Amino acid sequence: MFRLAHLSDPHLPMPQARPSELLGKRLSGYANWWRHRVHLHRPEALAAIVRDISDARPDHIALTGDVVNVSLEEEFRRAARWLAELAPADRLSLVPGNHDAYVPQRWDRALGGWAAWMAGDGGAPPRGPGDFPFLRRRGPIALVGLTTALPTPTFFATGRLGGAQIERCEEMLRRLGANGLYRVVLIHHPPLAVGSRHKRLSDVLAFQAMLRRVGCELILHGHTHRSEVARLDGPAGPVPVLGVTSASAAVESRYGRARWHLIEIERAGAGWQTRVAVRAARADGACEDDGRYSFRTA
Ligand SMILES: [Fe+2]
Ligand SMILES: [Fe+2]
Repeated sequence: MFRLAHLSDPHLPMPQARPSELLGKRLSGYANWWRHRVHLHRPEALAAIVRDISDARPDHIALTGDVVNVSLEEEFRRAARWLAELAPADRLSLVPGNHDAYVPQRWDRALGGWAAWMAGDGGAPPRGPGDFPFLRRRGPIALVGLTTALPTPTFFATGRLGGAQIERCEEMLRRLGANGLYRVVLIHHPPLAVGSRHKRLSDVLAFQAMLRRVGCELILHGHTHRSEVARLDGPAGPVPVLGVTSASAAVESRYGRARWHLIEIERAGAGWQTRVAVRAARADGACEDDGRYSFRTA
């Protein structure tokens, strides 16, 4: 059995910014953090989630983006230290979210600092979004990491994969499927044609068409800050699409308590059995079971 931990959207605490850093979209995002989000995302909730994941000793950790808030250079540096404490790069796979590409930036001063956690097996770390998806194999599991993160105008939190990335993803999934692997796709934006136009994945229909051709066994996303499950059509039946609550959501936040998912994957006959335990943070700093999902895939 393979045990995969999924967490998302930690939105790490914001450092103080210099006025010169707060031009354009960053200014509204920064003000919004100190007015609202600082109460929604709590370091003690995130500490409870991290402790519980560490106690569970999963085989691998998937983190589906929005690690920071307005993409300050200091946020990237602090986040790199937080990532290093959470897990070594070969045990944690990260895909970026819209808050990790909040404004246009040089790769080496921003996401490049996290490249080790986004590097495919045996390859060079990504030097930009054009190097996605990455592929990592762990036993019978293949993790395919996509980027949907790109700077957007103020008040927009949309994402985009782009035709070239979807093509590379299709080729990868086809090959991995032919080899009988359990394919997990990591993507920040839910690949679902629901929700506000200001927040969704703009080329979601192209992704869904690709999935109908080649399929995968599981899709993990963040962005909605909710623990939820949906299904998309694949060639051999429905593909489960699993979102998770922000890992730093305050107990009383509108998203509900901070959560992470422990996903247990094992072969069942010619297919797979996937069991998901939802773990939620309590006010006393411990975590508890908060529901289960179960999927049988061909
Ligand atoms: Fe988020
Ligand atoms: Fe997001």
